[in-house]
Amino acid sequence: MATRTSEAIDNLQGLDPGGLVDLERYPLLERESPAYQALVNALHDRLVAEKILPMEGFLTPEGVERLVADAGTMESKAFHCDKTGNPYGIDPAEIDALPDGHPGKIMSPTVRDGVGYHDMQGSLCAALYAWPPLRRFVADVLKVRELFLQDDPSNALVLQFYKPGGKLAWHFDRSKYSTILQLQAADEGGYFEAAPGIRDPENENYDAVRGLVLGESDPPLRRRSKPGTFVIINGNHTLHRVTDIGGDRARMSLILAYEEEPGVRLPVYLRRIFFGPDCPGD
Ligand SMILES: [Fe+2]
Repeated sequence: MATRTSEAIDNLQGLDPGGLVDLERYPLLERESPAYQALVNALHDRLVAEKILPMEGFLTPEGVERLVADAGTMESKAFHCDKTGNPYGIDPAEIDALPDGHPGKIMSPTVRDGVGYHDMQGSLCAALYAWPPLRRFVADVLKVRELFLQDDPSNALVLQFYKPGGKLAWHFDRSKYSTILQLQAADEGGYFEAAPGIRDPENENYDAVRGLVLGESDPPLRRRSKPGTFVIINGNHTLHRVTDIGGDRARMSLILAYEEEPGVRLPVYLRRIFFGPDCPGD
């Protein structure tokens, strides 16, 4: 039976995702070479130590231009999501049961527009996501045996627009690692702020989380990602957000979901929250 991964690869349709990547700096097609091995080892060590791995200049300037143009053709399909949430993604109906002072009780707004994978078929963005050398490279940096495309029809690949007034609230990711490709920076604002490794399985560090979410302390990391930067983040242990977007131009990024197991999907109710009532069911 054809899997979603094999179907996606069959659908590359002559698009050349490799032409988007700076293959001199990131030799994705020379996996056996000492340079590739040294690179993935160094990147792995940096990710483990720093919890966030921004790989600047991953795309060539022409690659950025082509993907931004590709993204522009899909912008009208974006679903506008305006919601409040807490840092842990706990169902709001359950937060009353949390003890007083628990940072899970603090609700903050997220405003963004997202195009789901189901509306990106045949695009250059989708071709890059499904391109086997990219998935292989991420697996090598993470030092896992194999990665699969997420099986979710909408969440596997998301093109996100943070328009003026947009923002992403402080949160932890569900999955251990997330991969993000930055396509366009905002004119003003739109900073990525993070507290790398603020929690781990032994220590939730609630006081420090609460201080950041309430704005009582400054985040250890604040940066604006340059277009063309490929980021891997240990988002399950790193509290992070995107600050309010100002100016006229949207901040644009691609969120690529790679999984260690095949068949990973979101529950339908969550898919509808992120992608709207008309997104695919199961
Ligand atoms: Fe996140």
